[in-house]
Amino acid sequence: MKKAVFPGSFDPITNGHIDVIKRALRLFDQITIGVARRQEKSPIFTLKEREALVKKVTANLKRIQVKAFDGLLVDFVKQEKACTIIRGLRTISDFDYEFQMALTNRKIAPEIETIFLLASEKYAYLSASLAKEIARMGGDLKEFLPEPVIVAVQKKLKKKKGMRSQE
Ligand code: PNS
Repeated sequence: MKKAVFPGSFDPITNGHIDVIKRALRLFDQITIGVARRQEKSPIFTLKEREALVKKVTANLKRIQVKAFDGLLVDFVKQEKACTIIRGLRTISDFDYEFQMALTNRKIAPEIETIFLLASEKYAYLSASLAKEIARMGGDLKEFLPEPVIVAVQKKLKKKKGMRSQE
């Protein structure tokens, strides 16, 4: 059985991520979506919230598992008994970071390969950070995020705004 891990911060999961997951399902029998803690990125959602949102919006897809992980990605990949990491590539600006990460992972675990899938050109510009910025400015998120994620982002930002106005 061909197993792969699709890792990310997923803060939050976007339509672009889902597009890459669906493409990966054509190549692999089983995909584990690895939701990384990434505390250094100061995510707006907790790890548990990000994991729950990913589970919710991929519940209709077969052959998918969603798991949170802490620590090294390559250790998580081994734990999942997979040997491939999938990453989505949008534009050339992603390349430097992805190249560095793939080569570092290869250095630590030469038996694990990274493969890159191109998201649909529809999502070439889309990132979770931009979607959050649009949400903060009250913009329409339909093109960018699945409906349950839109609701969760708006709720989270409202809560954060309320907390700031009390400070
Ligand atoms: O969605 P992101 O933030 O681009 O995903 C980055 C992620 C989570 C894949 C990367 O930061 C990662 O693998 N983190 C786990 C810690 C690790 O293994 N770091 C070394 C990678 S070279």
